[in-house]
Amino acid sequence: TPLSRIRNFSIVAHIDHGKSTLADRLIQATGALSEREMAGKEQVLDNMELEKERGITIKAQTVRLDYKAKDGETYVLNLMDTPGHVDFAYEVSRSLAACEGSLLVVDASQGVEAQTLANVYQAIDAGHEIVPVLNKIDLPAAEPERVKQQIEDVIGLDTSDAVEISAKTGLNIEGVLEAIVARLPAPEGDAAAPTKALLVDSWYDPYLGVIILVRIKDGHLRRGQRIRMMSTGTVHTIDQVGVFRPKMQSVESLGPGEMGYITAAIKTVADTNVGDTITDDRTPAAEPLAGFKPSIPVVWCGLYPVDADDFEKLRDSLSKLRLNDASFHYEPETSAALGFGFRCGFLGLLHLEIIQERLSREFDLDLIATAPSVVYKLHMNDGSVQDMHNPADMPDVVRIAHIEEPWIKATIFVPDDYLGNILALCTERRGRQADLTYVGSRAMAVYRLPLNEVVFDFYDRLKSVSRGYASFDYNMDGYEESDLVKISILVNGDPVDALSFMAHRSQAEKRGRQICERLKELIPKQLFKIAIQAAIGSRVIARETIGALSKDVTAKCYGGDISRKRKLLEKQKEGKKRMRQFGKVEIPQSAFIAALKMD
Ligand code: GTP
Repeated sequence: TPLSRIRNFSIVAHIDHGKSTLADRLIQATGALSEREMAGKEQVLDNMELEKERGITIKAQTVRLDYKAKDGETYVLNLMDTPGHVDFAYEVSRSLAACEGSLLVVDASQGVEAQTLANVYQAIDAGHEIVPVLNKIDLPAAEPERVKQQIEDVIGLDTSDAVEISAKTGLNIEGVLEAIVARLPAPEGDAAAPTKALLVDSWYDPYLGVIILVRIKDGHLRRGQRIRMMSTGTVHTIDQVGVFRPKMQSVESLGPGEMGYITAAIKTVADTNVGDTITDDRTPAAEPLAGFKPSIPVVWCGLYPVDADDFEKLRDSLSKLRLNDASFHYEPETSAALGFGFRCGFLGLLHLEIIQERLSREFDLDLIATAPSVVYKLHMNDGSVQDMHNPADMPDVVRIAHIEEPWIKATIFVPDDYLGNILALCTERRGRQADLTYVGSRAMAVYRLPLNEVVFDFYDRLKSVSRGYASFDYNMDGYEESDLVKISILVNGDPVDALSFMAHRSQAEKRGRQICERLKELIPKQLFKIAIQAAIGSRVIARETIGALSKDVTAKCYGGDISRKRKLLEKQKEGKKRMRQFGKVEIPQSAFIAALKMD
């Protein structure tokens, strides 16, 4: 296909504004799937069960559409699906780098939201031409004129040519297709130059091995060709070249501007670095394409099997998840409180939640997660800098010169009525206001916040104090020195590793007291008194005492009934398996689980 008849585009939108519905309409309108195939499949592009259920798009997907335009020419339109959530900003950026333009979909009954902004700014940064699309104009509450004004005011895009549609009813889908052809630029590239293809994504398929999604810049990729990964120098032979329509379809070759997939008998996604440049082994390109920043986990937590016998199963499940998700990290870890488990790194809180849910749902694992921690930078007295993502690993404070914590820049949209609550919440979380403006009757607050304050229930609180009306998005925004302390929780003088956490000094006492009070309720009485303490170093900042048990528990069984007595003792023995020993104190694992659930 000549470059002039190719258009590569993505759709950016806030969650629920109709991106997937529109994508399906485009597929349907261009005949890529028959009516019968469309029916029964709610949304074609979101293929994982979980994605469907939660209504979020995780992995980037692509589909090739043939469209006969009003000018009589047939165009190849490559639609690149992008994840909508901020945790996957990195996946969004690499998808955008494979395209020249974007459709900005805004729900005409809702208007601009926090994610609309975050995503559209990324598209603008990627140099995209942007076509505003107002969706859901079938709704009585739709106000296209007001929303167009909003897009002009907030984003600064010209909306005089905005396309008004209803993805649900199919109204004006052709208007979208014509706008793609007429207003988005064709790709550039040189068919005669040495091959340069961008490795956009890769995933593991049990039948075909690793499937690599590529965008060709120069040259070609063909079946049988020897290719080289420029970052690692590894060489492979292409088995299959193809495109997604959205079903996989083999083609002879892919040329400049085209998008598609290759397979080359590659065993693991670890050998295919996203952002790498693929070139021809015999006539390689001199320079790779401008790469991407690697994705770095920003939130860590420990994952432990509730039943210690599940440890190997957990290891196995994590390695399977990792096959398809290079941004997920894990390493073995042991805890006195929780036994053997793994320290896991995630792109953000949603990513963490998704992985946890998949582990329990797809792999049927019952897990305990420790409180999430961000990555702190410890500046040591000897001048070195250490990354710390588990407070239990903190070295002696006398060796530490100072500690830095990660900050974020958060954009919050909220109806006027709830603004006061939101500002109070941000202040309570050590936030600093960077901007406050109005967009119609909604306020847009921009805050800088320590990420550490956001990983604990911030999102839930935001939703509850705004009755669900606030929308929130964030970007990482550098590190800052801060007065942070490690709070240890001691049971009769022994520290419980899984419960230690980092906090700002101003909040240490409050948080320490909360957790002691909670544990007092969770740990059953024993034959002696138990002290529960929160401490910073050797200084105790909170204390609770659990009184001793006065009588033998079996006394409850009024002596006579021997079978009841035996049953009770057996039950206790069973319970022992779930007990953890701290000095002479035995604590049921359920107490840790409950304590860790605390906000
Ligand atoms: P994520 O995949 O979660 O990012 O959401 P999305 O932006 O892809 O939204 P999706 O297409 O799933 O649509 C969200 C909801 O809006 C669904 O219930 C759709 O049926 C509905 N919807 C989409 N387009 C329209 C429209 O034009 N009119 C009306 N009334 N509803 C629509």
